[in-house]
Amino acid sequence: MKKLWGGRFTGSAEDWVDEFGASIGFDQELAQQDIEGSIAHAAMLAKCGIITSSESDNIIQGLKMLEQKAKNNELEYSAKLEDIHLNIEHHLTEMIGPTGGKLHTARSRNDQVATDMHLYLKTQVGEIIDLITEFQNTLICQAEQNVETIMPGYTHLQRAQPISFAHHLMAYFWMLERDKHRYTDSLKRISLSPLGAGALAGTTFPIDRNFTAEMLGFEGIYENSLDAVSDRDFILEFLSGSSILMMHLSRLCEEIILWSSQEFQFIELSDTFTTGSSIMPQKKNPDMAELIRGKTGRVYGSLMGLLTVLKGLPLAYNKDMQEDKEGMFDTVKTIKGSLKIFSGMVKTMNVKKEKMEGSVKNDFSNATELADYLAAKGVPFREAHEIVGKLVLDCIQKGCYLADLSIEEYQSMNSLFEKDIYEALNPYNAVERRNSAGGTGFSEVKAQIDKAKELV
Ligand code: ARG
Repeated sequence: MKKLWGGRFTGSAEDWVDEFGASIGFDQELAQQDIEGSIAHAAMLAKCGIITSSESDNIIQGLKMLEQKAKNNELEYSAKLEDIHLNIEHHLTEMIGPTGGKLHTARSRNDQVATDMHLYLKTQVGEIIDLITEFQNTLICQAEQNVETIMPGYTHLQRAQPISFAHHLMAYFWMLERDKHRYTDSLKRISLSPLGAGALAGTTFPIDRNFTAEMLGFEGIYENSLDAVSDRDFILEFLSGSSILMMHLSRLCEEIILWSSQEFQFIELSDTFTTGSSIMPQKKNPDMAELIRGKTGRVYGSLMGLLTVLKGLPLAYNKDMQEDKEGMFDTVKTIKGSLKIFSGMVKTMNVKKEKMEGSVKNDFSNATELADYLAAKGVPFREAHEIVGKLVLDCIQKGCYLADLSIEEYQSMNSLFEKDIYEALNPYNAVERRNSAGGTGFSEVKAQIDKAKELV
């Protein structure tokens, strides 16, 4: 097969070298975008009088047929033709004859590949944003059913203060909201067209970059042709936003794994999202949560990989940049898959309310209530803290909890203690009363859920 740059060469490359340099094995994912970009380019060439309308029509018709074939997986790709761009151009010329060779007028694969990836991410990021919203809705739904479900809140994975389970779930809602903002913001930069930057310097042909940009649904064009073909920031942004999202999901994975353990028993996952063991009949493993926690590593890896590829690259295009694709494709697949699994997993999980509530009754997570009780009666908080610390120690030595101490025992420690301390010690009351803005108090959690609903 003759190379498209055959004119300059006397020898021919060996197959195994071609294989090594080829990207068609993975960039065929961009077939749709490549054809779309070419259609816009061909239309522009005619509109600007660079090729005739009949040539342009001819090219566009051919491209549309190829588009259909690509959709039906009927296009054959060859590593001899290196990448998706050369493969499509080859098929076009086979189909419509030498006019196909006019398509590449005033264009280079450098602006072409950049355009394809901008188009690809534009669609994918939009779909990811929708999947985030779907998962947020699932969280809201579970939260609404669990506003008054009390659980221990932790710091250092030690029982800290009782909280509403809805409050805990909603914390993830807000993380996802930020993730969504990051993706949405990145769309501004994804929506810039590099097409028409040529190989690096622009072109002498009287092209109209705004025409193609508009036709492809971009919001503007790159101002500098060198930047247009060298920039991969938009992919880096996608990978870093995705890394942060995966980090959030991975934290929730970790909690789901803990909560569904025999030690916690706060939730039970549905059978769909768990697996058994081939040897231990009693097992129900939270595989999907573990797998998403694990997949976080590959997304970070893709970010680190691309940062490293780009570091130190002189302007403009370098073949190194072909390495920008696999990590991006893999990340899209990982993020979409993880979000879908999460929506299902959280929607179907069984919340064991009594277990959660039961666990806060047998701990010291109400100690702050007691300190606050004294502080509200004018004892400096530091002193109150000291007094309650002694009471906790007293309980530990006696083998009981704060609610088990008698009023006499309390009053011997401080005369300000009265019978209503038992009210304050009740974890339900402790949660209900925490109504500072953004707190875990029921009315605050409800208000938070209402705000969240307005956003999705
Ligand atoms: N397959 C190449 C890539 O993915 C397309 C651009 C090739 N440009 C070039 N000048 N060799 O980066």
